[in-house]
Amino acid sequence: MVVSDRYPYLDFECRVFGERFIDSAYVDTGFSGGIVVPQSLWAHLWPLYEAEVVHLGDGSSKLVAHWDGEVRVGGKTFPVTVLCLGDEFIVGREVIDRARLNLSLGQRIVLDFDGPNPLVRPCISRLTPYQPGKPIEEVKRELGLTDVIKMASNENVLGPSPKAIEAMRNLAPEVFYYPEGSGPDLRSALAKKWDVSPDQIILGNGSDEIISYLGLTYLNPGDEILQAEPTFSEYRAIATLCDAETISVPSTDDLRHNLTAMRARATNRTKLFFIGNPNNPTGTIVTRDEVEALLADLPDQVIVVLDEAYYEYVESAAYPDSLDYVRQGKRVIVLRTFSKAYALAGLRVGYGIAPPEIIGCLNQVRQPFNVNSIAQAAATASLTDETQVARSRKMNSEGKQYLYGEFDRLSLKYAPSEANFIFVDTGKDSKQVFQALLKRGVIVRTGDVFGCPTFIRVTMGTRDMNERFVRQLETVLAEL
Ligand SMILES: Cc1ncc(COP(=O)(O)O)c(C=O)c1O
Repeated sequence: MVVSDRYPYLDFECRVFGERFIDSAYVDTGFSGGIVVPQSLWAHLWPLYEAEVVHLGDGSSKLVAHWDGEVRVGGKTFPVTVLCLGDEFIVGREVIDRARLNLSLGQRIVLDFDGPNPLVRPCISRLTPYQPGKPIEEVKRELGLTDVIKMASNENVLGPSPKAIEAMRNLAPEVFYYPEGSGPDLRSALAKKWDVSPDQIILGNGSDEIISYLGLTYLNPGDEILQAEPTFSEYRAIATLCDAETISVPSTDDLRHNLTAMRARATNRTKLFFIGNPNNPTGTIVTRDEVEALLADLPDQVIVVLDEAYYEYVESAAYPDSLDYVRQGKRVIVLRTFSKAYALAGLRVGYGIAPPEIIGCLNQVRQPFNVNSIAQAAATASLTDETQVARSRKMNSEGKQYLYGEFDRLSLKYAPSEANFIFVDTGKDSKQVFQALLKRGVIVRTGDVFGCPTFIRVTMGTRDMNERFVRQLETVLAEL
């Protein structure tokens, strides 16, 4: 780069939609307009430009690319015209003046073209990336620990049925074939188990995928979804992705969905009414009576999504038999999964049960081979082994009773749970509790991501794991 002694030059760092460039720049006292960027950098801005005739200082004019955009200099954002002209980077004096930078020769400045990338749909920048529970290996690596337990993602540590493992082994040599796209064997097995017809069932790459399909199928920009607060993040995520509005209704003081208040927010724009039942992260349920009162009183276009990912763990007699609503042809979809009680989270297989008209629409959106063949085989085999689920329910039920007792002893408030986790109020900053537990090799989830900054969510483990968690929690709470 040629450095002129007439003008100060600057080292600069430039960020264009996340990419970083380091170069030098002139501050051209004669050029007031904006910023001239070199051709090399322009390649990254090119999609934004329009061509414009620019009058050059020597009296001639030239057709050059320009972009009217926003630049952040020295922490301040303002509109500038950016020109592509030659090979050098020139910052107009006016830009520097307006940014009120006191510059000296060779000083480093940062020019930031980072705003939302105009090539990307604006809703993408409104998405909050899903924050998964920390993996065991990552914690071991980062903290130099050897003995780490994960009680963070509502997995089932008892592991899958031996029949599922055998089915996976048997199918391994066959994976060069594509799977049967709609999963006919698994759908038949589920139809038989739940006394519905196979055309009332759709399989998903986890029930997450069916939540996405619901959004892609039903949500136009400006439509609304209803959900409780706090709840599972993926309902809002798909609504945001579809440019729909999420109407969140606070839960009751005992952390239950307030269905009456939610119903009051339903409008003719409401398309999907999400109910986590049991809800994540609270573990609470809505009752049969509450659901039936709601179903009798909703605008016609609304589909009620009863997300029953933790169905197998529920013990309450007040829990609705949601498949009855499907059998009656109501606008309801029930979501279930093999990730939790069946312990197949890594395979990604879930399903939805709804009237055939809804399933037909979702199938229009479904990826042709969305559930892989190993997952289909393992899930089908799991259904033949009721002992695995029964053992898991028993461990869960005993774990809950043990943890309730310990939380009572420690005077910690919690929501009684119908799932395989408990949401407990530590009374301290949950991020600090999380970090302190992590150092002691116990991974849980913080409540702050759910808007409950003093809560943690802990997944039931084996008796040993639960005891270790309680010991460490007690120490941590005494220290904080
Ligand atoms: C309430 C709820 N729904 C759906 C899911 C997604 O489960 P999967 O995609 O593994 O079937 C989860 C996972 O944590 C959940 O908590």
